Parts: sequence; structure tokens; C-alpha cells
Amino acid sequence: MSFFVDKNGYYGQFGGAFIPELLYPNIKELEDNYLKILESDSFKKEFKELLDNYVGRPTPLYLAKRLSKKYGAKVYLKREDLNHTGAHKINNTIGQILVAKQLGKKRIIAETGAGQHGVATATVCALMDLECIVFMGEVDIKRQAPNVARMKMLGATVVPAKSGSKTLKDATNEAIRDWIGNPEDTYYLIGSVVGPHPYPDMVARLQSIISKEIKEQLLVQTGNENPDMIIACVGGGSNAAGAFYHYLDTKNVQLIAVEAAGLGVHSGQSAATSQLGDVGVLHGSKTILMQDKYGQVIEPYSISAGLDYPGIGPLHAFLHERERAVFMNATDQEALDAAYELTKIEGIIPALESAHALAVLPKMKFTTGQVVVVNLSGRGDKDLETYITHLKDE
Ligand SMILES: Cc1ncc(COP(=O)(O)O)c(C=O)c1O
Repeated sequence: MSFFVDKNGYYGQFGGAFIPELLYPNIKELEDNYLKILESDSFKKEFKELLDNYVGRPTPLYLAKRLSKKYGAKVYLKREDLNHTGAHKINNTIGQILVAKQLGKKRIIAETGAGQHGVATATVCALMDLECIVFMGEVDIKRQAPNVARMKMLGATVVPAKSGSKTLKDATNEAIRDWIGNPEDTYYLIGSVVGPHPYPDMVARLQSIISKEIKEQLLVQTGNENPDMIIACVGGGSNAAGAFYHYLDTKNVQLIAVEAAGLGVHSGQSAATSQLGDVGVLHGSKTILMQDKYGQVIEPYSISAGLDYPGIGPLHAFLHERERAVFMNATDQEALDAAYELTKIEGIIPALESAHALAVLPKMKFTTGQVVVVNLSGRGDKDLETYITHLKDE
């Protein structure tokens, strides 16, 4: 069985391109060109140069000794938090801005939840001198204020999404609406492995640098390029897709995807899509999403803006259906506890999203010497206010 996209843009039953007719030419143009561009020597050279010298790759793979001692395994952290702009999102935006330039696009639009993808998009637009418009839910604009300020300083226009739960899903709806209105000159720079084909595949390929480096670094540090387990949080699923990518066919590497359970999976305030959702179409692809019996999207909730999304990308829907990945979840409180713990015992303040991945460590039973990689997708600067507020309540 292949876990990679097939020639029609599907992962098993999931994926495809369910889009309004007005967008067919855009999607067709991207579909016809993305592999040619990604596989060209000039793209590979420029992408690598920017990742090495602008983003700061390779990011370290750090053996967290005190964390390892506590949980009885060798816990390695893949330090995506050390990337320029503070998260894995920049890997994807560097790649897609080069694609947009090749396609001759002048206006870039993006959606953002935690603001990390918005900041990463505004950054590459500043770098390439392109107009940038970022759609962001009103609730997220409030809870991720530092990132809103950064986007504005970088020259982006931030447009509030005021419908629904005023979070990532609603920002995505607004971005799609804008794209339908401006199909000619505009490139939609999607921030996760979601959306119509070829976006999920393109974003997974651009993020696959994460598992490429993990392999090389583990080989040097342990003599074996395969860990026993990789743990990553899943909003749309791009950091997880990147961390899993080069291990998808290596069956003895266990893949753990962690969703946000909010106030509890069955509390009505959750974003644990794989537990609560079923098959449907969301933002242009067939996937698993949280919906009511009429097919209306159920508003998600998580303390973490980046995981506050009612769907998962089609690759993850397939990994879940075929049980290639184990889907776990962590509540707001468990994520907060994990963030405080990492800060205290390793001196690293993680993003709230990444804290969800760390939060499953206490739920696992490891055997001594097991090698576990946690993808630390981002840093916690943007979440300081939330951390400080909740610390007072502790
Ligand atoms: C630090 C961080 N991790 C994870 C995510 C979730 O996105 P994805 O599932 O695409 O990696 C986000 C989204 O904004 C993020 O900022």
C-alpha cells in the first residue's frame, strides 16, 4: 500500500479537488506545474540556499536528557522552533513563494490560525517584494497579538474573519472567497497539508525536509536512521506530514499524531477531528471533518489557535483509516502542563501546538532505550500571554 498521493490526487478515498468552477484554471495551472518546478535544478538550488542561510537549517535534533530520564526513553526533540520566524511553517512558505514567482503571480493571499503561517508568508513576501494579504479569525487576532504585529510590520494586510467561530476555518473560507474574486493574479499560499490537490502533496513535500534531516541526524547520533516512534501535533497536519514523510513506508517506525481535545474529547469544546469526525468535504478536499448530521461543520475549539481546526488533511485521514498512524489527543490543561514541564526541565518554551505533542509522553509506556522523536513544531513566544495567565491559576 502506498501512503503517497496517487496520480489523480487521492490518498485512498481521501483528497481530490472539490472546488468552484472559477478556480479550475488556477488549480489546473498549479497541478500541471508544481512537480516540474519542485524537481527543477534551479528550484532545488534556491530552496536549499534559502533554507540553509535564511531559515537556519538544518535545525538541531536534541537529545532531551532530563525529559528522557523522566519518561524512561531516549527522547529527541526536532527543533523546528529554532527556524527563522519560530516554526516549521517557513519551510513551506519559502517553497511556495518560489512556485508563485515561477507562475508569475504578484499578489499572495494566505489564511492563518496561530499566526505562524501568516508571519512566515508575510516574511517571504517581504523577501520577494510581493503584496501579501493574510486572513485571520477575529478570535485568533486577539489571542495571537504578537504575530499580528509582526505581520503588519512585515508589510502584510491582516483581514479579520468575522464569521463562525472566528478562527482558522473561517479565515480559510475568507481566503478561498478572495481567490474566487481574484483568480488571475493571485496565488493562494496554503499553510498546511489541506485544500484541493495538489496542495496537500506539495506542502508535504516541502515539509519533508524535517524527516530527511531526522534520518541523517539520528544516523550520526545513534547509528540508526530509524527511531522507534515519532510524535507530532496535528492541526491541518503539515508538521506531522513533514516529520512522518520519509518514514511512511517504514512500518516499524510508529507514527503518533496528536490532536487537540480542548476541554475534553466529548465536551463539545474540542478539535479532536479523528475521534469526532467522519468523511466529508472541507476546504476543497475529501477528508475527515467534524460535522453534524446535516453536513454542517461543527465549530472546533482548542486553546491553541494552530490546532483549532475541524478537519485534518487527506493524508492524515488515510493514515488514520489504515491505522498507519495512531491518533491520540491532549486537552488544553495537559498541553499547558507539558509546556510548563519542558520549560522547567529543558529550558525550552514550546508553542502551545507543540505542547500537545509533548503532552502524550506521560500517557505512553516506553521500554528502556526506545528512541522517540518529538517534533517541536514551534516556539512559545506567541503564547506567552496565555502561559502567564494560566500560570497564575495554577
Ligand atoms: C507551531 C505550530 N505547530 C503546529 C501548527 C499546526 O499546523 P500543522 O498541523 O499544519 O503543522 C501550527 C499552526 O499554526 C503552529 O503554529
